[in-house]
Order: sequence, then structure tokens, then C-alpha cells
Amino acid sequence: ATMAEEAKKLAAYAAVDNHVQNNQAVGVGSGSTIVYAVDRLAARVRQEKLNIVCVPTSFQARQLILQHSLALSDLDRHPQLDVAIDGADEVDADLTLIKGGGGCLTHEKIVASCAKHFIVIADYSRKDSKVLGQQWKKGVPIEVIPMAYVPVCRTIVRRFGGEAHLRMAVSKAGPVVTDNSNFLLDWKFDGAQNWREVNAAIKMIPGVVDTGLFVDMAERAYFGMEDGSV
Ligand code: A5P
Repeated sequence: ATMAEEAKKLAAYAAVDNHVQNNQAVGVGSGSTIVYAVDRLAARVRQEKLNIVCVPTSFQARQLILQHSLALSDLDRHPQLDVAIDGADEVDADLTLIKGGGGCLTHEKIVASCAKHFIVIADYSRKDSKVLGQQWKKGVPIEVIPMAYVPVCRTIVRRFGGEAHLRMAVSKAGPVVTDNSNFLLDWKFDGAQNWREVNAAIKMIPGVVDTGLFVDMAERAYFGMEDGSV
């Protein structure tokens, strides 16, 4: 495994070992790091005979839960989660996050908001930005209702600067479509912003479903480091 993969695994294992206990409802995030967390969770459930239910944040998370024969639940049955674990595209020193590189930001934010403890796992490359945008160069993902994507792009750029682009699919002609059948914008902003205000203001634009800015949500972040520490 590459160093970054090893780092993701270390962070994921540490979060599962420190924050998951018997008889919990656990929110399962999306992306490449969460794969290691689900591996660890499944191993612990088997070995320790834990009674755990999992609530997914995406189609991918749901598949991971099912592939590992973990108990699949939802927010109808478990609206209060003990813990949610998820990756992040970038984390600053205040634990403000950019998420949604994988396009699942809306469900991820809903699930995180239902958890008593929201724990982030990532490798060293996502760590401790002074100013968000230093590591994750692709901008802030924003989920939009398809018919609104052009006006939303224009409004964001007019009010907050930078550039916003419709995310295009790689192996299909046309836009990326989210798990909610919406489109994604990636807003490349300039410089430092007041993330709490920017997040609230963007959410208020008609047609915006949610933003990949997670302000005051994460309680703790685990970073796997290049030297093998966490
Ligand atoms: C998915 O929408 C994202 O928010 C992911 O959680 C984020 O992109 C982290 O992914 P990695 O674990 O692959 O870095």
C-alpha cells in the first residue's frame, strides 16, 4: 500500500477503536478512507460480538455496509446516532471541513448532524490548513437542483468571487448526478472567507440543496501521518 493509503487506514482504525462501542448506532461516511473504517468495524463486530447498526451516507456506504454483512439501518429507525465517522477533503485548525469530493455531501451532513459525536478520518495531506483551499484545490462542492445550476453559479461568483463550475462526469458525457438526482458545482474561491457566513449565505440561494462546508460539526479529527503515527 502507498503511504497515503496506510495513513488512511491508521486514522480509520484509531477512530473505530476509540469511538465505537457495543449497542451503538453508527453513521458511515463515504470516500476512500471510510472503506478502512468499515473493515475495522466489521472485524470488531465479529470478534467482540458487538450489536451495532449502521446508517449510510451514500450508495457507496450502503454497499460497504451490506458487503460486510453489517446491520443496515436508516434515520427513520435511528434518528439519533451515537457516532458518525467520515472522511474529509480538507480540514482547517478549527475543524471546519470541505467535503463532497465524492459528491455525497448532503447525506453526509444530515447523518453527521444526527450524531452525538462526529469524527473525521483522513491522511496527512488533508490536515490543518491555515486557510481552507491550501490542500483541496478543487473548491467547495455545492449540491444544486439541476434547473438552478446556472443562476446559482452566477450568484455565488457575483457575491463571493472566484469561479464555479458544473462537475462533469468522467465516464459519461454530461454532468455528475448525485444520489439525490441533483447536480454539483465546485466553487473555487479566492483566499480566506468567513466560512460560517458563507455557508449560511450560499444555503439561502434558491436551488442550493447544501454545501460541502461543515462548520462547527466535527468534534475530533484523526490524521494518519507519514511516520505511522496518528
Ligand atoms: C464524499 O462526498 C466526501 O465528502 C468524502 O468524505 C471525502 O471526499 C473524503 O474522501 P476520501 O476519504 O477519499 O479522502
